[in-house]
Amino acid sequence: MNRLQQSLRQIDGKSYKAYKTIQGRFSFHRYEVIVDYVQGDPFASPSKIRIIIPDAYRKIKAEWKNDQNRKVYTEDVVARSVARAISNNSIHGKGSGKSGLIAIDAPGQEILERTAVDLDPNHITICLSIGLPANGRRINGKEAEKLFFDAIPSILSQSVFAIKDETIDQAVKLADQHQAIRHAMKENGWVSFIANGSVLPRQSGISNRPLNNAIPFQSPEANQVRINIPHQEEPLTGMAIKKGVTLIVGGGYHGKSTLLNAIERGVYHHIIGDGREYVLTDPTAVKVRAEDGRQVTTVNISSFINDLPHKQDTNRFTTENASGSTSQAANVVEALEAGAGTLLIDEDTSATNFMIRDGRMQELVVKEKEPITPFIDKIEQMKQQLDVSTILVMGGSGDYFDVADQVIMMDQYKPFNVTDKAKEIAEKNPTARTSKADQDFGKLPNRQFLPGSIQMQKGKKSKVQAKGLATVIMGRTDISLHYVEQLVDSSQTRMIAEMIRHIDQKGWLKKNQSLAELLDQIEAQMNQQGLASFAPFPNQHPGDLARPRRFEIAATLNRIRTAKVKDMS
Ligand SMILES: Nc1ncnc2c1ncn2[C@@H]1O[C@H](COP(=O)(O)OP(=O)(O)OP(=O)(O)O)[C@@H](O)[C@H]1O
Ligand SMILES: [Mg+2]
Repeated sequence: MNRLQQSLRQIDGKSYKAYKTIQGRFSFHRYEVIVDYVQGDPFASPSKIRIIIPDAYRKIKAEWKNDQNRKVYTEDVVARSVARAISNNSIHGKGSGKSGLIAIDAPGQEILERTAVDLDPNHITICLSIGLPANGRRINGKEAEKLFFDAIPSILSQSVFAIKDETIDQAVKLADQHQAIRHAMKENGWVSFIANGSVLPRQSGISNRPLNNAIPFQSPEANQVRINIPHQEEPLTGMAIKKGVTLIVGGGYHGKSTLLNAIERGVYHHIIGDGREYVLTDPTAVKVRAEDGRQVTTVNISSFINDLPHKQDTNRFTTENASGSTSQAANVVEALEAGAGTLLIDEDTSATNFMIRDGRMQELVVKEKEPITPFIDKIEQMKQQLDVSTILVMGGSGDYFDVADQVIMMDQYKPFNVTDKAKEIAEKNPTARTSKADQDFGKLPNRQFLPGSIQMQKGKKSKVQAKGLATVIMGRTDISLHYVEQLVDSSQTRMIAEMIRHIDQKGWLKKNQSLAELLDQIEAQMNQQGLASFAPFPNQHPGDLARPRRFEIAATLNRIRTAKVKDMS
């Protein structure tokens, strides 16, 4: 009899705390189970176990994991198969609280590096959360035996041990193709690529799955490019968006925001069947929007905003409660500070006065009374001086025709290149507005977060923890990420919370290190030591983490209300 089985029989009926005795390592026929963490009671957050499968029992070919990029896709396939087997599992546990729960950190539509599954040269490690069974608050050993000796083996048989080689092959091919597309984009100076036949709209505002019967994407002739990709004879064709300023126009409800949303999600890679698996965007593209009410700490927004009432300093702009225009200005310059190469903006979520001011308004509200230099007057300098491109949805103002390199019109969900027409119209009807296009973009912020910025203390406890996708609870304050639109997976949020703890514990906030350097340091550790190196306990279940981008990490730090920040510029 397995040692685990013996232990479970011994503690059956005892108080729940006795489950602590099963912490440790147990051998099964084709794998080992390591119980890393035992929950305090049946209602507490679940226990954490790892399952370690030697290569001998499920061979993972070297070609599937030697390349870091391919490895992420292979791990993703395994995680999905376990998630599917868990949801098909018919052996259900009984009992109080979370009794009988079995869960893996299941991936969504994106293929993200995550800790749920890890492939090392000789093993597959699967991280699960389980609810150790109880009757009331007493151990139910029988149910626990069912969980370890029936349910989990059945789940593994239907997943890890049943994955077809073709399934992994297919994922690995997609990995290669994504790299090839990214390579072609870089070579050619394309900030986004949307393949013909892609399905961009989603099922609903709350579902990330593709809309059924959608009109597939078809590139306008003028933007169509071909990309040779591996593992496929026919080249991929689709629309390339070049560096520079791209305007997306069109009537209401014609699919403008849908196109921009697909572009903004293209910084990630999507699974086969998503509809956006061949929609890719510059990985340094950042969606920026208005976010009135947000906290801003010592951000130089003077490129856009000057001479605020009460002489508020916009070189070191600080507020507990930003307005529409100032919040969007802060979001723009913070993205640039973190290294954004492309900005994505939708009029639906922008402050109108930040984006545009027409001739009549310029006449009524004279320059001296208007603190804002609208985005339209900076877009050119951003392109020329900072090499930053913009993709902008703007159906409401033709003033942007003057500054656009290309104009795409969405009509009945189909894109048309209307650049020439737009330029012609712009020439025929010059705007009455005056712009000062020859100026300098201005200074970007170059800030450091000072020691003491991270306040995790709440009474005697120290706390930093993700709550869902869009909140990090830290000490006494919540950090709200509801408007950080490219944060897509709650495991990324969890990872950012772990990073904040790590930064604090390791004393990474030190004098004279810029935010950009801090982000570099975080990324370097992720690359060299893996995501799990940020988890609190080494060599244990790392706790369901997925890789965030530096921009979303920066966005979180920027929303810490206790931050102490100094600008070094
Ligand atoms: N290719 C498509 N096929 C079918 N439906 C689509 C397609 N693209 C978008 N839609 C749907 O059309 C609706 C409107 O799209 P979207 O929000 O992109 O419009 P919009 O042009 O941004 O409108 P507005 O100017 O009002 O902001 C959405 O419900 C979306 O799911
Ligand atoms: Mg819209």
